[in-house]
Amino acid sequence: MNAAVVESFAKPPRYATFPEPTAGEREALVKVRAAALSNLVRGQASGSHYSSGSELPFVPGNDGVGTLPDGKRVYFIGPRAPFGTMAEWSVAAASRTILLPDAVDDVVAAALGNPGLASWGALLGRARLQSGESVLINGATGVAGQQAIQVAKHLGARRVVATGREEAVLARLGTLGADQTISLRQSPEELTAAFRQALEGIDVVLDFLWGPSAECLLAAAKGQGAAQGEPRVRYVQIGSIGGDAITLKADLLRASGVELMGSGLGSLSAAAIVEALRAMFDAQAAGAGLKIDVEAVALNNVEAMWNCVPPSGRRIVFTV
Ligand SMILES: NC(=O)c1ccc[n+]([C@@H]2O[C@H](COP(=O)([O-])OP(=O)(O)OC[C@H]3O[C@@H](n4cnc5c(N)ncnc54)[C@H](OP(=O)(O)O)[C@@H]3O)[C@@H](O)[C@H]2O)c1
Repeated sequence: MNAAVVESFAKPPRYATFPEPTAGEREALVKVRAAALSNLVRGQASGSHYSSGSELPFVPGNDGVGTLPDGKRVYFIGPRAPFGTMAEWSVAAASRTILLPDAVDDVVAAALGNPGLASWGALLGRARLQSGESVLINGATGVAGQQAIQVAKHLGARRVVATGREEAVLARLGTLGADQTISLRQSPEELTAAFRQALEGIDVVLDFLWGPSAECLLAAAKGQGAAQGEPRVRYVQIGSIGGDAITLKADLLRASGVELMGSGLGSLSAAAIVEALRAMFDAQAAGAGLKIDVEAVALNNVEAMWNCVPPSGRRIVFTV
């Protein structure tokens, strides 16, 4: 079959031929229609993501949209290596296929999967957001962050605070539901002060960045404990595009109500991932109106497009 093929962790995948998969017991063979190029997929193809395998060659792609042998249209996630989703055919556990409502088209469904899971998984499966609570999103200018604003509001968030570097994008986040924005282009002292003010009344933090801004955010939470009955801050670590590691002072956790947790492959069960994705597609079909900026590109352009950096908030989806 035709496929994107990773032959080296140091090079982009090539459009080449690859053996076709066959489905085993409790697996589904999928005729692929669309698969998104997320940071996760790029990381797996370069061997740098925590879920990367070590065997070469393989087909990249962690999720996608396609049809089952009976013609039903599905979104599916977690294909069986070495068969990723960027190929004519793929294979995954049947339990990881989700029937797609007609109202959600192939390319939009493929684009929504990974960034949507980031917030639906974190808010439903980890933070357990209650309607009326408030959310701060650190790193809201990217694809996943822009989804997070919309999803938090859809799930009933009272106030959403959004942070980011790109001023022009920050200025547009109000149209997605952000009530307040904070620029990350400030000194650590200024940023910590801005976070301290913004954190008042915040119940949940969704952090796509980690690194220096997370250090400021956690420092700002110091003293916001449960002593006066303030809400505990459920801090969900989702991405680390701003830095892999932070320095975390011990007294910060003792002197605050912060509850630190992660959301991703490993901290969410396979069932919770499927549940979150199903909730997202059903909500979209029912009129949630989640907006995502998508660029559809034919898969035979995979090598040229792999390292291209689209404008903030845009997702490339390969069509097969
Ligand atoms: N755990 C999960 O379930 C899950 C799911 C999806 C994504 N993720 C992770 O979440 C992160 C964001 O994903 P995405 O799909 O939204 O990526 P994206 O669309 O590429 O957006 C990334 C954004 O990060 C910002 N950024 C990049 N480097 C930065 C830095 N050094 N400091 C501050 N901001 C920086 C940029 O914002 P500006 O434009 O403002 O500069 C950019 O818009 C990635 O780490 C991804 O792997 C996790």
